[in-house]
Amino acid sequence: MTASFSDFIERETQRRRTFAIISHPDAGKTTLTEKFLLYGGCVEIAGVVRGRKTERAVTSDWMEIEKQRGISVSSTVLPFEYEGFRINLLDTPGHHDFSEDTYRTLMAADCAVMVIDLAKGVEPQTIKLFDVCKLRRIPILTFINKVDRPGLSPLELMSEIESKLGIEPVPMNWPVATGIDFRGLVDVTTEQVNLFEQSSGALRVPYRTIDLPHLRELDLREGIAETVIEEVELIHSAGARFSSARFLTGEATPVYFGSALKNYGIEQFLQAFLAFSPPPRICHSNIGPIVPSRNEFSGFVFKIQANLDPRHRDRVAFLRVCSGRFVREMEVLHTRTGKRMQLRQAHLVFGRERETVEEAFPGDIVGLVNPGAFRLGDTLCERQPIAFEPLPQFSPEHFATIRCADTSRRKQFERGLIQLIEEGAIQSFDDPRSNSRESIIAAVGELQFEVVQHRLKSEYQTDTTIARLPFKFARWVLPRDGETSLPRLQLPFAARLVRDQYGGTAILLTSQWDCDVLARDNSGVRLSAARETGGLNHFDNRSANVG
Ligand code: G4P
Repeated sequence: MTASFSDFIERETQRRRTFAIISHPDAGKTTLTEKFLLYGGCVEIAGVVRGRKTERAVTSDWMEIEKQRGISVSSTVLPFEYEGFRINLLDTPGHHDFSEDTYRTLMAADCAVMVIDLAKGVEPQTIKLFDVCKLRRIPILTFINKVDRPGLSPLELMSEIESKLGIEPVPMNWPVATGIDFRGLVDVTTEQVNLFEQSSGALRVPYRTIDLPHLRELDLREGIAETVIEEVELIHSAGARFSSARFLTGEATPVYFGSALKNYGIEQFLQAFLAFSPPPRICHSNIGPIVPSRNEFSGFVFKIQANLDPRHRDRVAFLRVCSGRFVREMEVLHTRTGKRMQLRQAHLVFGRERETVEEAFPGDIVGLVNPGAFRLGDTLCERQPIAFEPLPQFSPEHFATIRCADTSRRKQFERGLIQLIEEGAIQSFDDPRSNSRESIIAAVGELQFEVVQHRLKSEYQTDTTIARLPFKFARWVLPRDGETSLPRLQLPFAARLVRDQYGGTAILLTSQWDCDVLARDNSGVRLSAARETGGLNHFDNRSANVG
């Protein structure tokens, strides 16, 4: 391939931004998504995003699950164009029980936007999702929403972000009051104030710009102008300055105030996002770093979802492109199996609509219709076999046996269960010494069991019963380097030796105490608290310590 081909890929890469929004439910993620899409000219899609949420709220008696599955079930990625950029907005489930799913989605993102409700501050789910971002060290921009409503003081919010999340907040704009007194936003760097007119939420709210000291001349409630001027001075004297390096390593977050509903500060935020957020990153593989402009195509599967739409009863594997150019019908190497395959059915999946993808570039997400070929973490590449870093599978905290109530539905039940396991919604274990055909299912979040039962019922017409098991932890037994057989183990009394869905050996345990006993009594054995999927070898060299 020629240099101009890699220049072409480099140009396409540089104009791409792939990110996810994290927030506590009701902070305004849907509204902000909708506004971004409107700026991107996707009026119809924006309507669907809102419509879906409203529709679910009205009709579903599965409120919690449906709400949490949210647009993630129907959309996964919302691509749009804005000012020459191609933006891929990845959807993350809101509920903490789905943090594993979120983690995998964030593996496909280069950046995150954290939405905080001005009145609520940093909420529990924000903390959970933030922690997931921190594990991945991805850059985070913060948007403090709902300035049109009364809330916590902006200074209070800054110290909450710092103390609860352990990241340095760098205010980039500052509100001129909040609630009914709200008048505008000060650009902290230029000390210019955008004063907004009353907004009905229209896309472009008219505003005029003045210098900060002129706030004193406005007809504001007493004390507001002085407070804002003092606070901006305080920000300067505290020396909080935006540093691209600290942002990119996840040590500092630029903070913007605004209102997604009223459209205050959204366009400015979107522009700042484009200015600061990184283009598609270099991905790590078994042969070293893979730069996006590499001529050869490569990508990895970060999500598998079955039955996205009842009209298309199939499985879609979502692939993040890491390098080169993806072209429909191209032939690729599936690293795990070593097979070459032609990618015929490639889609951009949005809700019920599927658009055929002709080509895609680093940062883009492609939905591949998957006849059981792919697993989470699989790498696809063009010529030279490579494997990207494996995706972790967290140690489950909830265990149960699941049984199909009606034996005549056993086939459907088994098929459904396999698909849900493939998606990573649940993990499964069996006891090789037991005669029972019952599967042990396990999940990180409790709600997953309800989702599984609900989906088995609605997608496979199978009623199931679930019986909880007392286990709380799983530890995988890793063979020692160069050895193929597993070591002899001494197990705590209540522990159970099982086989996981990939044939790996694991031990289920009921308490942290037992985990410690297991580690103590088997000190020469490599035990891991997380399993990894994908990569070249499921059990490569990254075993975690027990405990
Ligand atoms: P989520 O996706 O994070 O769960 O939140 P969503 O955007 O659905 O917003 C939750 C509620 O907060 C919605 O009100 C929404 O209109 C409101 N909201 C979002 N941004 C702002 C804002 O900047 N200012 C104000 N005042 N409200 C905001 P709702 O009554 O629950 O729903 P709806 O009837 O408005 O759809």
